[in-house]
Amino acid sequence: MPHHTPIYTALQQYVQHNKLRLHMPGHIGRGMTARELQPVAGIDVTEVPGLDDFHLPREIIGQSRTLLAHAYGAGESYFLVNGATSGLEALFLALTSEGEKVLVPRNAHRSFYGGMVLSGAMPVYIPVQTMPEPGIALAVTAEDIRNLLGQSDKLVFLASPSYYGTTCDVEQIAQLVHESGRLLLVDEAHGAHFNFSPQLPPSALQCGADAAVNGLHKTLPVLNQGACLHLAESLKGSRTINQAVSLITTTSPSYPIMASIELARALLEEKGAALLDQALDYAAQFRQEARSLGGLKCYREELLGVPGVKGLDGLKILIGTGKTGLTGYDLDRILREKYQIQVEIADNKYILAMFSIFHQKQDWDYFYQALRQIAQTVAVAGPAEPEMVALPPYPEVVLSPRQAFKNPVKRMPLKECRGKLAGEMVAAYPPGIPCLLPGELITEAVQNYLEYLQQIGARLQGPEDISLRHLSILDV
Ligand SMILES: Cc1ncc(COP(=O)(O)O)c(C=O)c1O
Repeated sequence: MPHHTPIYTALQQYVQHNKLRLHMPGHIGRGMTARELQPVAGIDVTEVPGLDDFHLPREIIGQSRTLLAHAYGAGESYFLVNGATSGLEALFLALTSEGEKVLVPRNAHRSFYGGMVLSGAMPVYIPVQTMPEPGIALAVTAEDIRNLLGQSDKLVFLASPSYYGTTCDVEQIAQLVHESGRLLLVDEAHGAHFNFSPQLPPSALQCGADAAVNGLHKTLPVLNQGACLHLAESLKGSRTINQAVSLITTTSPSYPIMASIELARALLEEKGAALLDQALDYAAQFRQEARSLGGLKCYREELLGVPGVKGLDGLKILIGTGKTGLTGYDLDRILREKYQIQVEIADNKYILAMFSIFHQKQDWDYFYQALRQIAQTVAVAGPAEPEMVALPPYPEVVLSPRQAFKNPVKRMPLKECRGKLAGEMVAAYPPGIPCLLPGELITEAVQNYLEYLQQIGARLQGPEDISLRHLSILDV
């Protein structure tokens, strides 16, 4: 029943029939002071009769979850109103416990760290394959998973697709993981649309994953924070997952977010293939034209050539600044100031633009023309930005993320940190893979690397003292 939208329909009925709201939220459906917020306030209600209970769904929310699961080919699906983050945290919390070893990609989103703090799990990091030019982390290989599998107690976590739209060989990895009797859980935050077009990479569930988390708000017409957790038949009905989702979810779930998830699901079921195919056609035409962008470069084949990369989401457009002499930040600024275009992210040597099913041909053309004009007006020069620096070997994980999180920290001059345990993350861009995480041993190699980063003025994420003269270490 693709057209069936039980939550949205019940909200409409409530709005139509109710005369006086004497319940939360305090805006009572009409008291928002900003004009822009008013339209949504009408359906921003709470769990009153007829609108079911998020934590014990028996009516419209239960029905809508079944429809969601059906649309995604899942055994069971959960609405998430606090982003993909909450789904990933719930999986860790439910499926791992204190000291248990889990495989996780070294560049995983911070929600993995949150999940490990909540659960007490001990990470075994999977190396991440990079593309040195323009300096991005893309995928993990099945080979690395095979080699590390024996170190995991029962779980393997993957992130696929990457932020840049590249997917891992999830099918092969799922086969390996299952042959070893373990479970595969996938952060598919950026791939909520994969299930609806054969022109996109197959979804994690289609590839055999036991669970996948979709950040629907990232690529679909869903309000920010709207996400979902899908369980395959192997995990369907898991009581601990149910409890974990409930534990970390607000008791005031947003009906506008849930309704937007439901409406997006209905739209995708009805027209998703046609809309996505149209958008992917525009993307293919753009890529064709982008061959003549002068010094700027639109990546595709190069991404697919990186070890471990199996597929690519055509709607993510990665533009390298190549030989233009511009940085990605320059390009980002020119696009914003001169053309009123805002892209998703900029880095030293690239910008990443995200297109959706709602962009029209003229949007693609406008973006292309803007890039073309910029490419024609800039001088062609050599690359000016620092190259990607090879990471030292991952340091030994001495304390779990949870133990590290609970420990007091103190600041110390970097030169005195050797042999201590890190109290904060350090990741240098490009490509943003952490060289140090809380609870890890600061070896000689790591300290030398950090001193090197300090010398070259690398762009860092994580340390409180961005100059790296001091580092937070655990006060153990
Ligand atoms: C790969 C990845 N996973 C998970 C998340 C968390 O998603 P959310 O912001 O919906 O909590 C993000 C957010 O950017 C992400 O990029």
